[in-house]
Amino acid sequence: MQVKKAIIPAAGLGTRFLPATKAMPKEMLPIVDKPTIQYIVEEAIASGIEDIIIVTGKGKRAIEDHFDHAFELEDTLLKKGKTDMLDSVLETSNVEIHYIRQKEPLGLGHAIWSARRFIGNEPFAVLLGDDIVENEDPCLAQLMRQNELTGKSVIGVQQVPEEETHRYGIIDPVSIDGKLIKVDKFVEKPEAGTAPSNYAIMGRYILTPEIFEFLGQHQLGAGGEIQLTDAIQKLNEVQSVYAYEFEGRRFDVGEKFGFIETTIEFALKRPELRDRLLKLFEEKLKESYIEEK
Ligand code: UTP
Repeated sequence: MQVKKAIIPAAGLGTRFLPATKAMPKEMLPIVDKPTIQYIVEEAIASGIEDIIIVTGKGKRAIEDHFDHAFELEDTLLKKGKTDMLDSVLETSNVEIHYIRQKEPLGLGHAIWSARRFIGNEPFAVLLGDDIVENEDPCLAQLMRQNELTGKSVIGVQQVPEEETHRYGIIDPVSIDGKLIKVDKFVEKPEAGTAPSNYAIMGRYILTPEIFEFLGQHQLGAGGEIQLTDAIQKLNEVQSVYAYEFEGRRFDVGEKFGFIETTIEFALKRPELRDRLLKLFEEKLKESYIEEK
C-alpha cells in the first residue's frame, strides 16, 4: 500500500533555543527567510505525500497562520507587482494540512501516538524538523520506495562519528545489503562508548500502523520521555523493521551550532547574499588574526 499520509511533530519544548522558543515553536525558526517546517513540508510534497498532519503544542497559531492563505499580504504584493515574493508566499498555501494538539509534551513517541486517528490502518511517514536533507531525489521518497519493495517499516539512517552516537537513536545491524539494513536492535541515545554501530536515525521514518499498539503502552524511556525508538524496537520484535542509509546532505538544525552552520550554507547559495557574506568572513578572519597577534 502506497504511503500517502505524513505526521510532522512540532510540539516539543525546544529548550535548546530558549528564549526564542518561549512563545514560538522551534520549527518556525527561519533558515535565511523560510521557517524550518516549510523545508520539511516541501520534502513531503515532493515525495508524493497527499495529507499532512502537524502535531502542535504551544505556538499553534503561528504554524497554522503560516500555511494558511494570507489574503491581505498576497493582495498587497500583487498590487505592488512583487511577483517573486508573492510566489514564495503561495508556495505551500494550497496543500492540505491538518493539525492536532499534543496536550502535554511527553515525548516524540507520544506526539506520534496523538495522531493515530488521522492515520487509521495504513503505513505512514514521519518527518522531524530537526533534520533538513538536501537531495534531488527527496530523502522521504527514497524510504517510500524501500517500503514498497519490502512492505515493512523503513527508518532513515546515516553514519555519524562515534563520539556523537550518544545524541541519536542508533541501530544494531544484522546484515547490510547495499543501503538496506536488517536490524537486530534499535537503541535510543546509548551511553558513550556503548553504541552498537555508528548508524544514526535521522528524523525520517516510514512506519506500519502496528506501531500504535506499542506507542499506546506509554512506556517511559531515555530522558523520562515516551520514545519513538523504543516502540520501533518492540515492533521489530514482531515484524521486521528495516533501516535505509539514504542519500543526501543532512543538516542538523535541532541544535545551535548546526542551525547557524545551516543558515550560513543556505545563505551562501543565494546570489544576492553570497558575495557580501564572503567579504564579511574575510574581514572577520583578518580581525581575529590581528587580535591573536
Ligand atoms: P526534540 O527532542 O529534538 O525536540 O524532538 P524538543 O524537545 O522540542 O527540543 P529540545 O531538546 O528541548 O531543544 C524531536 C521532534 O519531536 C517533537 C519536537 O517538536 C521535534 O520536532 N516533539 C518532541 C513533540 O512533538 N512532542 C514532544 O513531546 C517531544
